[in-house]
This record gives sequence, C-alpha cells and structure tokens, in this order.
Amino acid sequence: MHRYGLIGRALSHSFSRDHFTRKFEQEGLADHRYDLFELDRIEDLPALLAATPDLRGLNVTIPYKQAVLPYLHALDPVAAAAGAVNTIAIQEGRLTGYNTDVEGFRTSLLELVGDARPRALVLGSGGASRAVVYVLKELGIRFRVVSRSVERGDITWDLLDPIIVKACPLIINTTPLGMHPEVEAAPDLSFEAIGPRHYLLDLIYNPAETVFLRRGREQGARTMNGMPMLLAQAEAAWRIWNAAN
Ligand SMILES: NC(=O)c1ccc[n+]([C@@H]2O[C@H](COP(=O)([O-])OP(=O)(O)OC[C@H]3O[C@@H](n4cnc5c(N)ncnc54)[C@H](OP(=O)(O)O)[C@@H]3O)[C@@H](O)[C@H]2O)c1
Repeated sequence: MHRYGLIGRALSHSFSRDHFTRKFEQEGLADHRYDLFELDRIEDLPALLAATPDLRGLNVTIPYKQAVLPYLHALDPVAAAAGAVNTIAIQEGRLTGYNTDVEGFRTSLLELVGDARPRALVLGSGGASRAVVYVLKELGIRFRVVSRSVERGDITWDLLDPIIVKACPLIINTTPLGMHPEVEAAPDLSFEAIGPRHYLLDLIYNPAETVFLRRGREQGARTMNGMPMLLAQAEAAWRIWNAAN
C-alpha cells in the first residue's frame, strides 16, 4: 500500500483528502490511500511514523508548518527560505520537507497579473504570508506587509490609508478574515480607493467569493480566490512524492 496523509489539528474538513482520494480513483491507483492524521501535539509525529511504516508522503497544515521542522532530515532550499513546510516526502524513514505553497501561489499570481508587476500589499504575516513574500521577492514585485504588530509587518492597519491602497494595485489577503464560517468578516481596507487597475488575490477558497473579493470586484478590480493556489500546491506535492518514490 502507498500511503499518504495530512497532519494537523482539527482536520474534519479537508480539501486534500477529497482531492487525493478522487485522484487515486481517477488514475486507477487502487493501492494508494490518503488519510487524515490529527495530532494533538507535533511530538506525536514519531509515533505516527512508527505505526504507519508504509507512509510515502505527508501534507502539513495549521499549526505545524513550522513546528515540524526539527523532525525533518533534509529541507528543500525553497522551504528553508520560506521558513515553513507543507509537504514531506518519506523515503526509507528519511523525511524531506518542501513548501509547495510557494509554487501554488506563484502559479495563481502569474495567472492573475500576467506580465504586470504591480506594487503589492500583503495582508497578514503568518505561514502563508511567508510563501507569498518569497514569490514577490523572486518576481521583483515591491511590497509591504500589513500586520497587527509593528514587529511582524512593515505597516500596521491604522496606517493603511486610501493613498497607500491606491498606490498598491496588487492586494493579497493572507489573513483568515472572511473564511467560513465567519463569512461576513473582511480586512479593514479603504475599498473606495480600489479601482479597475487593482488585482485582489485572496488565499481563502471557502467561500469562493469573500467580502474582500466581492467589494474589490464591485470597485472594478480583477479578483482571484485561493482555489487555483490550492490545486497547484496539491499537484506540486504529488509530483514531489512521485519523484521521491
Ligand atoms: N489557497 C491555498 O492554497 C492556501 C494555502 C495556505 C493558506 N491558505 C489560507 O490562508 C489563510 C492564512 O493561513 P496561514 O496558514 O498563513 O495562517 P496563520 O499562520 O495563522 O497566519 C494568518 C495571519 O493573518 C493575520 N491575522 C490573523 N487573524 C487576524 C485578524 N483577526 N485580523 C487581522 N489579521 C489577522 C496574522 O498576521 P499578524 O499577526 O501579522 O497580524 C496571522 O499571522 C487561511 O485562510 C488559509 O486557509 C490558503
């Protein structure tokens, strides 16, 4: 059996399990399966690996994308630069960490902006924000990170005035504001400063159109939700697992 799975806490709704289960069915891979492994603490990972010796790969989600680093034997340079791991390949007990959020975000961003390299605002400074920042630097896009904390970002929300919003035509939401079930929430932005030159990209994929994207669209902005990124990061994980085994 070729086993794969997702580690995290509270995993009842998992895109990854549905995605890979469907993929294995479609590709006739009857000896492949994908399971959810809820871990109360990351310290439980070695016991999971010992109890599941035919595991070939894992995805990693909140809150373990950084906490898993000490358990890895090797780290892909992109994951090292992003400081977070969301995919692990397992070969003969050796764990190698990767960050496919980087590839997923790059794919969706280029689909949205094409050849344009607009100045950007990155809302939030958590794990996904690190992957976003990595790609923006790689593409030469100038950006500022908006955070609740002076230490974690370039500017705090109270300083985010309409002039800055107007001057930054690319706005990327990496906060959970607006995610199911709190679908009425939205980042505290001057939406009136958004216009047809703007691109709004939300990493949230549920709901398909957040209040952030809807209000941007109503102002004439081009918008994209987190689904293209989610699909692209899952495909990148699958490629890594196949290359490793
Ligand atoms: N589409 C995809 O493939 C994909 C991949 C990864 C993540 N995501 C989505 O991206 C979102 C973030 O995930 P993550 O793993 O980066 O989570 P995270 O590590 O918890 O980071 C979220 C960041 O958002 C900011 N934030 C949190 N609550 C806030 C609030 N009430 N008001 C303002 N800012 C707030 C915080 O930054 P500050 O502390 O600096 O304010 C926090 O670090 C989630 O919705 C997740 O589902 C999507």
